[in-house]
Amino acid sequence: MDYILETKQLTKQYGRLTALNQLDLSIKKGMVFGLLGPNGSGKTTTLGMILDVIKPNSGSYEWFGKAPHADSRKKIGAILETPCFYPYLSAERNLQIIAKIKECPTSRIDHVLKEVGLFERKNDSFKTYSLGMKQRLAIASALLADPPVMILDEPTNGLDPQGIVEIREIIQQIAATGKTIVLASHLLDEVQKVCTDFCVLRKGEKLYQGSVEEALSDQKTIEVAASDLSSLAQLLENLEGVKKIEKLPESLSLTTDPSITTEQINAYLFEHGITASLLAKKGGSLEKQFLKILNEND
Ligand SMILES: Nc1ncnc2c1ncn2[C@@H]1O[C@H](COP(=O)(O)OP(=O)(O)OP(=O)(O)O)[C@@H](O)[C@H]1O
Ligand SMILES: [Mg+2]
Repeated sequence: MDYILETKQLTKQYGRLTALNQLDLSIKKGMVFGLLGPNGSGKTTTLGMILDVIKPNSGSYEWFGKAPHADSRKKIGAILETPCFYPYLSAERNLQIIAKIKECPTSRIDHVLKEVGLFERKNDSFKTYSLGMKQRLAIASALLADPPVMILDEPTNGLDPQGIVEIREIIQQIAATGKTIVLASHLLDEVQKVCTDFCVLRKGEKLYQGSVEEALSDQKTIEVAASDLSSLAQLLENLEGVKKIEKLPESLSLTTDPSITTEQINAYLFEHGITASLLAKKGGSLEKQFLKILNEND
């Protein structure tokens, strides 16, 4: 069984409110899995339950193919809330204390500080850190024990665009080392950029689970322009593999079979005496797909 995490019918109620309803999730090794959903949809509740800090009302989950136990928890690095660091101590000293608590060697401290880009600032006290640096130190502390799984709850919350890019790059680097990452976010763009797979939660219900690539494949288009757009459109209507032509102000947007290449389109137009002034692939956006998922479930 190559699932790192499987949840079965995981349910959490707070009084009459169902925060999470019968959630089935399966997360494979190496995935960067995004839990996507608006505020209050049950993301933190889910992470809390799989980290054994929130008790489910019903349902179960397995880590590494087994019922959770103390040993499996050690293989998971998590940031659920901003961890408490000592404000007057340096980043390095803070990590030494955490290493002691977690009973893991201090020999990885320099390495994890480099991984999150704080090595040069390791002697500065925590209170002098920016929000982005604090968040990166939190990731460093979760990496200390070199866990194969990382869980991050809204890792870019409150950060500026630069800080968001830095965290995103760190997550991508961590994923490249083969770790499995589970990340909660309400940002479509973040999930699209860093995740391989995702699920959509709304009011505690899972509406969708799939790979990001698949979700985007429906959305991919090719943009074409030439001096005479209407004759261009007429010509392209007859090209096999072109499924839909949408007229934009200065170009056409084609929805095509995935097998069709821009080279083929170019050659076809050239054969028919048209020179394209623009021919470009456009990646899809998760936003369109997300709205479609929400609409289908209304
Ligand atoms: N301790 C609690 N007591 C009562 N209700 C709670 C508690 N914790 C969460 N809830 C409720 O459960 C639902 C899910 O909350 P949760 O924090 O999991 O959402 P979330 O998706 O993480 O939201 P956000 O994006 O705002 O972090 C919400 O309606 C919330 O009000
Ligand atoms: Mg939350």
